[in-house]
Amino acid sequence: MSDVARPLAQGWQTWRMDGRPEALVDLDAIQANVGALRRHVGSAQVMAVVKSDGYGHGMVASARAALAGGASWLGVLQLADAIELRRAGITEPVLSLHGCPDAAHAEAIRRSIDLTVGTTELVDQIALEAEGVGRPARLHLEADTGMARGGATAYDWPGLVRAALAAEAAGLVQVVGLWSHFACADVPGHPSIGDQLAAFRSAVALAERAGVRPEVRHLANGPATLTLPDSHFDLVRPGGAVFGLCTLPGGVPDWLRPAMTVRARLIQVKRVPSGLPVSYGHRYATAAETALGLLALGYNEGVPRLASNAPRLMFTRGRRVPIAGTVNLNHVILDLGAGPAEAGDEVILFGPGDQGEPTAQEWAEALGTISYEIVTRFTGKVPRTYCGVTAVEEAAALGAAGTGGDGSTDGQVATAH
Ligand SMILES: Cc1ncc(COP(=O)(O)O)c(C=O)c1O
Repeated sequence: MSDVARPLAQGWQTWRMDGRPEALVDLDAIQANVGALRRHVGSAQVMAVVKSDGYGHGMVASARAALAGGASWLGVLQLADAIELRRAGITEPVLSLHGCPDAAHAEAIRRSIDLTVGTTELVDQIALEAEGVGRPARLHLEADTGMARGGATAYDWPGLVRAALAAEAAGLVQVVGLWSHFACADVPGHPSIGDQLAAFRSAVALAERAGVRPEVRHLANGPATLTLPDSHFDLVRPGGAVFGLCTLPGGVPDWLRPAMTVRARLIQVKRVPSGLPVSYGHRYATAAETALGLLALGYNEGVPRLASNAPRLMFTRGRRVPIAGTVNLNHVILDLGAGPAEAGDEVILFGPGDQGEPTAQEWAEALGTISYEIVTRFTGKVPRTYCGVTAVEEAAALGAAGTGGDGSTDGQVATAH
């Protein structure tokens, strides 16, 4: 263990006892997931999509772990996020995945951040800013092939290509990429998948006939990366899969590992009789003499209120226990049964599933949503702790030794679970 790692690892041992929840992010899992995705796609490059604060896992740390795993590109949504990655010293290609008028284009051009464009107006605006900066903007033209979100429709695509080529001829932009996005890649066999593939091939062919020479053509999100080799082209853009999550039926394949564990400690345990109504609205009553445990996190911190009365989503002392009644703004009450329980006991909401705890996928299936929504609910709401070799290296690079001497886990780095 390096000198830098030692005090941080000690900080980990002192995970605070005041009941604050914690999101533990396993950077080794992120690194290994990206390595596995790279092997899966063969010759295509991997852009790790770390938008939405790295799907709640922390953008910069996740980006570093993904790069260590072999990603050669990063994808974000907002230019501000791309700029943050550059400020953190990341020099690999970064693409902002939505084209937005009046964004900080000049700064993006200065920092070699790749920009998405889907309209001729945006090409013109960025070209003007590139002229001011004195260097060409790197553009990826987005084709709307069936998602009906960003990008140019088939009707507008020839005009977008013409505008981009004119700006390129003037030395104001470089057309680096051609891309599109699937609507239903996570619905195996959906007829739109083939239609979108064909539409993307047509859009690429039209652009290349007109003279575009892209470095990368890209279409595949995570589900397509996993299941649709025809969609890989030069570059794939997995997001959730980087973090061991997937929206395909059944979730992620077992060669990818969920990277986030959310846990808290019981702040109070009390013995109660059978038939006791519990929590707001008295929607739960104890079925027998039992112990109730109190957790200091509720829907403000990320637990969906829809999880009220969920029978199997909490894990403590090696067993699943029910949420007793309504999830509160800042509290959840658990029915712990007759077994031993005391304040300070660890409760895991979800994790990789190794110990029998639920996964985010299981939460999603129980609540009728997707795992991405479960993990991102905790973004910025609970302190994050990083673990993994990469985290320790990062702490060394940042000179973060000795932080967290008060036992705070926010942003801390640990070497082991
Ligand atoms: C343009 C784009 N590409 C790639 C992704 C990654 O998708 P996923 O997390 O399903 O792999 C997203 C996420 O929604 C996206 O918007």
